[in-house]
Amino acid sequence: MSRPTSAPSIVLVGPMGVGKSTVGQLLAERLGCAYRDTDDDIVAEQGRSIADIFVDEGEAAFRALEKRAVAAALAGHTGVLALGGGAILDADTRALLAAHQVVYLSMDVEEAAQRTGLNAARPLLAVNPRKQWRELMEARRHLYTEVARAVVATDGRTPEEVAQAVLDAM
Ligand code: S3P
Repeated sequence: MSRPTSAPSIVLVGPMGVGKSTVGQLLAERLGCAYRDTDDDIVAEQGRSIADIFVDEGEAAFRALEKRAVAAALAGHTGVLALGGGAILDADTRALLAAHQVVYLSMDVEEAAQRTGLNAARPLLAVNPRKQWRELMEARRHLYTEVARAVVATDGRTPEEVAQAVLDAM
């Protein structure tokens, strides 16, 4: 894969709870590079949790913050970058991602329910996690696939195994 200059070497996308942060940090350690997460950038900039932003201002306002945070991170970070699960909903963001080595971390619904089911910090899964996750994936799976140069399945794998599979896919 070709590497754009002055930009992340690997961008991780995929649904919430798939392990983008954990795997991303492992990858950064293995590669000896920096790790960055656009959710963290938004929380730091806003001084509030993602859940609070959703409650206070709604999803559309969060998406606008996310779009800006992702564009800034793609332009200004070298290393491993993890995007929030819904970042790929934005067409301009998907267009920007075409210049990057994007890896889609995938998982099936049962694994997702185990990993994210009772986590109240995830506002989009707060009511009926299994059903909501299925619906999100139906709407998003093709978008993750569209931006990704590689897909790495995480089901039944440890974060270390997933990180290795990402490196193997590069
Ligand atoms: C979201 C995923 C979350 C966070 C927000 C919305 C989504 O990020 O950005 O709760 O729409 O899938 P993670 O994928 O890092 O949990």
